[in-house]
Amino acid sequence: MKCVCLVVPKEKAEKVRQKLIEEDLLIRKAKIERDEKYVYFPVKEKVEIRGCYLIEKDFEEIERKSYVDILKEKGIDIDSISIDFIGDIAIIRLINDSYAREVAEALMEANKHVKAVYLDRGVKEDYRVRDLQHIAGEEKKETLHVEYGVKIKLDVTKVYFSPRLAAERMRVAKQIEEGSIVVDMFAGVAPFSLIIAKYAMPKRIYAIDKNPYAIKYARENVRINEMENIIEVIEGDAKEIVPKLPEANHIIMNLPHKSFEFLPLAIRKGKILHYYEILERDSIEKRMEEIKALGRKEGYSIDIKNVRVVGSYSPAKQRVGMEIYVRK
Ligand SMILES: C[S@@+](CC[C@H](N)C(=O)[O-])C[C@H]1O[C@@H](n2cnc3c(N)ncnc32)[C@H](O)[C@@H]1O
Repeated sequence: MKCVCLVVPKEKAEKVRQKLIEEDLLIRKAKIERDEKYVYFPVKEKVEIRGCYLIEKDFEEIERKSYVDILKEKGIDIDSISIDFIGDIAIIRLINDSYAREVAEALMEANKHVKAVYLDRGVKEDYRVRDLQHIAGEEKKETLHVEYGVKIKLDVTKVYFSPRLAAERMRVAKQIEEGSIVVDMFAGVAPFSLIIAKYAMPKRIYAIDKNPYAIKYARENVRINEMENIIEVIEGDAKEIVPKLPEANHIIMNLPHKSFEFLPLAIRKGKILHYYEILERDSIEKRMEEIKALGRKEGYSIDIKNVRVVGSYSPAKQRVGMEIYVRK
């Protein structure tokens, strides 16, 4: 296959390879080539890296089997599986757990970057941490996930993180005006804050969480992405911290099981609330009316826009996102 090729001097090759993987620029279907002086990387687009140059080149195509093909060869037909790739860790959910080991091994064979596989047995209150059982590969728990070029370090057994919200985070970032004050009320390891700091121009972001592990990683993530002058990470209960913060242009409320409980607090503090809640399909309208009534009770007028389903939660329930505009 013919594609753009980044020619890299041998001594720089490993560093460049890491960077290309992190930024998802490497074409995985094409085989990387080497000679005595250079390594030839097939890349998705023209990248500029000091000391390297670009050519057009024919690469050998790699035949890759998917985990479904591998399982089928073993006579296993999996009808329902959900997988989250977080850095080099895969987290799987199955209807029938008895195939977990076979699925995990097939997944590792098909996805060479996966170093560990865990079975997800649900999310635990109150820090929303997953109950994980190690199934295959190394027993590693800490990983580095890259989302739109932002580095997110975390321990999958100690904090909440969902790679499925990547598009949602970018969607929110695009709405943040220059100079805004942002409060990330339930920040976790701070993915919303980090994406906003990279793709918008806020004045300040306050990232709050009460899980001390989430706070440890949030602080580290702010440091490794060099965003210390924008994001302030605060450990504690949002109920106590939010009243002490300055007025906010935007508040992110990603605690979908309990966010309604925190709404009066957010209505008093913020102008645009990026609100998420787990709701039954036919209870969305009712909830919107309750939110408006809550606003009136607090003495504000409320407009609700962009009501959308962000993800499924169970056959009957969905993760719903909406923007709540508060007029003071
Ligand atoms: C669903 S997670 C969302 C994390 C993050 N926003 C994300 O998108 O990955 C909710 C987070 O809220 C935190 N949390 C729960 N109750 C809280 C409270 N009262 N005050 C502050 N943080 C809280 C949990 O520790 C958890 O990290």
